[in-house]
Amino acid sequence: MPAAPRLLVIGRDGQLARSLAERCTARGIAVLALGRPEFDLATFTDLPEEARAFAPTIIVNAAAHTAVDKAETEAEPAFAVNAEGAGRLADAAARLDLPIVHLSTDYVFDGTKPAAYVESDPTNPLGVYGRSKLDGEAQVAAAAPKHVILRTAWVHSPFGGNFVKTMLRLARERDTLAVVADQRGCPTYAPDLADAIIAIAERIVATGWRDAYRGVFHVAGTGETTWHGLASTIFALSAELGGPIAEVRPITTEEYPTPARRPANSRLDCDKLQRVFGVSLPAWQDSLRLCVERLLAEKPTGD
Ligand SMILES: NC(=O)c1ccc[n+]([C@@H]2O[C@H](COP(=O)([O-])OP(=O)(O)OC[C@H]3O[C@@H](n4cnc5c(N)ncnc54)[C@H](OP(=O)(O)O)[C@@H]3O)[C@@H](O)[C@H]2O)c1
Repeated sequence: MPAAPRLLVIGRDGQLARSLAERCTARGIAVLALGRPEFDLATFTDLPEEARAFAPTIIVNAAAHTAVDKAETEAEPAFAVNAEGAGRLADAAARLDLPIVHLSTDYVFDGTKPAAYVESDPTNPLGVYGRSKLDGEAQVAAAAPKHVILRTAWVHSPFGGNFVKTMLRLARERDTLAVVADQRGCPTYAPDLADAIIAIAERIVATGWRDAYRGVFHVAGTGETTWHGLASTIFALSAELGGPIAEVRPITTEEYPTPARRPANSRLDCDKLQRVFGVSLPAWQDSLRLCVERLLAEKPTGD
């Protein structure tokens, strides 16, 4: 039986990093997560001794400057983490001859394609965040021969700040919420993403590195919806589970202007991931139920 992977995760407290730690621990997979302030992706020069001593078999970059609107006025820190930091981490991985799994985003696309995006579709980010992540993809690919770049989308989880938590919090304060109904995407549950990454790591460890693993892959919850559809489903589940509810009024992007423009369509076609790694994510509604159940079981926080 091949050895189990050992995951070094960068970005300790984020939605994905915490999901990875939880899933690895539950499955007896060794995981070490590094984060700020001890490890800053924007300024680090080399991996700390602790990381080398852990002897990882794969590095996962789950750290990112993810504040999409803030990035419009904070381009420098966004690029320092999402592009240069990611590139230096990939270089560190390459020097240790380790594969790196790097996370990217659906926001590398401009949303004008009428169908779901495949990996080879032309990119054209609409904002600074998307541009910094696209630059990060290029820097990771250039620095590490053994790279798997995973573009994901609309991430939610029991951890950190996200749309599901925000909707449940707002429903405790208001009866009606106006939610954008003309942006389509694929909601993704971070614990599902963590499981997918673990499966990819297990495959790489089992077979050794293969050229087919190198490149960009789309990974998102199965199915699609709008933010309005997502909000409506959150409240349908919440009603069923005795949680807060609000009426959801559909609005257009024009009626809800934000500093960063978002793609009207950022649906991701995830067939390549299934073909190469045999991995696909559950239907987004099934995972959303798990997320809402877990959030309602917790004491409400200020997130
Ligand atoms: N969230 C989404 O909807 C979404 C959609 C598409 C793609 N993605 C991508 O998926 C990945 C995971 O996202 P997520 O939702 O888990 O993000 P998240 O919850 O916002 O977490 C990001 C983490 O990165 C850490 N970080 C930021 N700058 C850092 C630095 N200089 N050094 C070390 N750590 C740093 C943050 O640390 P602090 O805790 O110290 O702030 C935070 O813990 C990212 O690559 C993101 O771009 C996310």
